[in-house]
Amino acid sequence: MKKILITGANGFLGQHLCLFLVEKGYEVVATGRGDCRVPSGDLHYYKCDLTESNEVALFLNVHAPAVIIHTAAISKPDDCNADKASCLNTNVEATRYLLQTGSSHFIYISTDFIFGENGPHEEDEFPDPLNFYGESKLQAEKLVKGITGKTTIVRPAFIYGEIWQGLKGTFLHWVKNNLEQGKPIKVVSDQLRTPTYVIDICKGIETIINKEATGAYHLAGKDIVSPYEMALTTAKVAGLNAGLIEKVTADTFPEPVKRAKRSGLKIEKAQRELGYNPVSFEEGVRLTFEGNV
Ligand SMILES: NC(=O)c1ccc[n+]([C@@H]2O[C@H](COP(=O)([O-])OP(=O)(O)OC[C@H]3O[C@@H](n4cnc5c(N)ncnc54)[C@H](OP(=O)(O)O)[C@@H]3O)[C@@H](O)[C@H]2O)c1
Repeated sequence: MKKILITGANGFLGQHLCLFLVEKGYEVVATGRGDCRVPSGDLHYYKCDLTESNEVALFLNVHAPAVIIHTAAISKPDDCNADKASCLNTNVEATRYLLQTGSSHFIYISTDFIFGENGPHEEDEFPDPLNFYGESKLQAEKLVKGITGKTTIVRPAFIYGEIWQGLKGTFLHWVKNNLEQGKPIKVVSDQLRTPTYVIDICKGIETIINKEATGAYHLAGKDIVSPYEMALTTAKVAGLNAGLIEKVTADTFPEPVKRAKRSGLKIEKAQRELGYNPVSFEEGVRLTFEGNV
């Protein structure tokens, strides 16, 4: 089995990917900034600050992974806006350092935020990021496209899935927690997304590794829904009071960072070429809360 390096192993996607690929029998080498938070004894975890080029070069030399899945990033648009230098250092420069070896299959986890309005978007549509986070991810994509080795760009959107100790809850968990406590919530109905069940991304990436598929792939959900509709589905699946959910428009919450009204990703290319077959949003919510609904 191939040796796979997962960066950002303590993050939401990183932890899920580690567990998924270890379970499938791959040799997983994982890196993060702090102590290991991945609940698995079957992987090799190392602390590595990806913004330190020497540290990264040494690490790649010693471990020589066949595949690098680069999930590490400053992934919150508001944080990127608040500290642009740190955003560029982490999202762009760290990607440059990881690309140094050139001998691994490099799988870069990007985002729908590289696009602007009028989604859902196809893989080769013209990028038009609306905020600095999207701009930084686009710059990293350009570095990935610029090297001659085997590279793949994976774009998910609005990732959700199961959580455990050491993982922060997603939007769905926020909705469920509030409704369980009988608290009313206001949720935006004039933004459209294609939320992605995290295990679907893991399955899509495993196929990319095995097929050695290169180029760009959208690994997103198949349903186009607003956060308000996501909240209603969460209430339905969890058997909670949907009457507590108030429908509002995005201008109710003035944000420092611009976000698209109609975002989302088209997945036909991944369906056609990878056999990608994501669950429906309702099924994904069910799987997310399975066992504790
Ligand atoms: N979440 C979404 O809805 C979504 C949607 C589309 C695309 N994406 C992309 O998917 C990827 C994973 O997202 P996520 O939600 O799983 O992110 P996340 O939970 O924020 O995890 C990102 C990880 O990167 C690590 N990291 C940050 N700076 C680092 C550095 N200098 N050196 C080493 N590690 C560093 C963080 O470590 P610490 O824990 O130590 O801070 C964190 O664990 C990101 O590239 C993001 O852009 C996410």
